[in-house]
Amino acid sequence: MKRLKIALIPGDGIGKEVLQEGVKVLKTIDKIDNNLFFEFEEFPWGCDYYVKNGKMMDDNGLEQLKDFDAIYLGAVGHPSVPDHVSLWDLLLKIRKGFDQYVNLREITLLNQSLTPLKDKSEKNIDFLVIRENSEGEYAGVGEWMNKGTPEEVVLQTSVFSRKGTERIIRYAFEEARRQKKSLTSISKGNALNYSMVFWDQVFNEISQEYPDVKTYSYLVDAASMYFIKEPERFEIVVTTNLFGDILTDLGAAITGGLGLAAGANINPERQFPPMFEPIHGSAPDIAGKGIANPLAAIWSVAQMMEYFHEGNWKDYIIESIRVLLKEGRYLTRDLGGKSLTTETGDRLIEILTQMVTENKSK
Ligand SMILES: NC(=O)c1ccc[n+]([C@@H]2O[C@H](COP(=O)([O-])OP(=O)(O)OC[C@H]3O[C@@H](n4cnc5c(N)ncnc54)[C@H](O)[C@@H]3O)[C@@H](O)[C@H]2O)c1
Repeated sequence: MKRLKIALIPGDGIGKEVLQEGVKVLKTIDKIDNNLFFEFEEFPWGCDYYVKNGKMMDDNGLEQLKDFDAIYLGAVGHPSVPDHVSLWDLLLKIRKGFDQYVNLREITLLNQSLTPLKDKSEKNIDFLVIRENSEGEYAGVGEWMNKGTPEEVVLQTSVFSRKGTERIIRYAFEEARRQKKSLTSISKGNALNYSMVFWDQVFNEISQEYPDVKTYSYLVDAASMYFIKEPERFEIVVTTNLFGDILTDLGAAITGGLGLAAGANINPERQFPPMFEPIHGSAPDIAGKGIANPLAAIWSVAQMMEYFHEGNWKDYIIESIRVLLKEGRYLTRDLGGKSLTTETGDRLIEILTQMVTENKSK
C-alpha cells in the first residue's frame, strides 16, 4: 500500500474553490483503490495570510513542506498585495527552493468544440510543453537605479547557466526518446544574441547524443504562429521560463481556456517534493461566486498520479474529463454552461467512479 502525504495550499480567490474539487477526486481514488492512501495537511498561506502576518508563508515554510510527497496548490494573488510579492514570496519560493526545474504543461484538446481554431480537431492538438522553471528570464536578477528620477534605469537580467540549460534540454530529449516523439526547441537566437545563441548551441550539442530523436528549432515568434496555424507540428516542446509561460497560455486558449490548463513542477531527481497546480490565477473577478471551472485543478491531479507512477489513474481522470465535456450538461460558464464549480466536480466524480467500476467488472 502506498501512503502519500499531500500538502494543500489553497491560496486565494478561486484557488480555494477549485482545489476542493481536486481533493474530492483524490479522496475518490483513495476510496476505490486499496493500494493508495492519501493524507492531507492544509497550509493557510497566501494573500490573506500576508495581510495578517506581513508574509506569504511561514519563514520555515519550505522546511515544513519538504517531507511531503507532493504539494497541491490552488492559486495565489489578490488586489490587496502586489502581484510580484505574492508570486515571488510563495509560488516562486517553492519552485526555486525545491529546485523544481521542470515545468510540464500538456496542450491537449479533449473536445473539438473547445478550440477556436477552424478545421482543427483532437488529433491536431496534442503535445507537451517542457518549460525551464528555475532560471532564465525569471532568475530575479536585476537592478533599479536612480529610482524616481529622470535618470531612472531598470535592468532585468536573464540567467542561463550551463548546468540549468543542459539539464532541462536533456530532460526533454529523454522524454522525447521515451515517448518516441519529435522534440522542438523554441528560442530567439536572432535577437537575444547571448542567452538564446547559447541555448541553441546547447540544444545542438545534446541532440548529438540522441540521434534517434527528430528535432526542430523555431524562433518564438514563428512558433507562436505555428501554435495557431499548425499545432500538429508539435509533439514535445522545450523552451525557456518566459517563453514557456506565455506560449502555454496560448496553448490553453486553443484547447478550452485557462479553466482546463494544468501544470506540474518537478524535481526529476526527486530530492524535493513536486508541486501540482492549475495554471490560472486567483481570478478576483469571479472569486466567491462558486462558478470557477475546477477541471484544470482536476487535471493537475492526473499529473500527480503520473508522477506517482499511477498512469492508469491519470488516464481515467483525463478520460472522465473528456466524457464530461462531451456530454456537455455540467459545464461551468467559461465553457458555455451554467453549472457551479461543485456540480462540475461532483459529475466528474460520478463519471470517474462509473468508468473504473465498469472496467473492473470486465
Ligand atoms: N499560479 C498562480 O497562482 C497565478 C497564475 C496567474 C496569475 N496569478 C495571480 O492571480 C491574480 C489574477 O490574475 P489574472 O486575472 O491575470 O489571471 P487569472 O488566471 O486569475 O484570470 C484571467 C481570466 O480567466 C478567468 N479564469 C481563470 N481561471 C478560471 C477558471 N478556473 N474558471 C473560469 N474562469 C477562469 C478569470 O475569471 C479571468 O477573467 C493576480 O493576482 C495574479 O498575479 C496567480
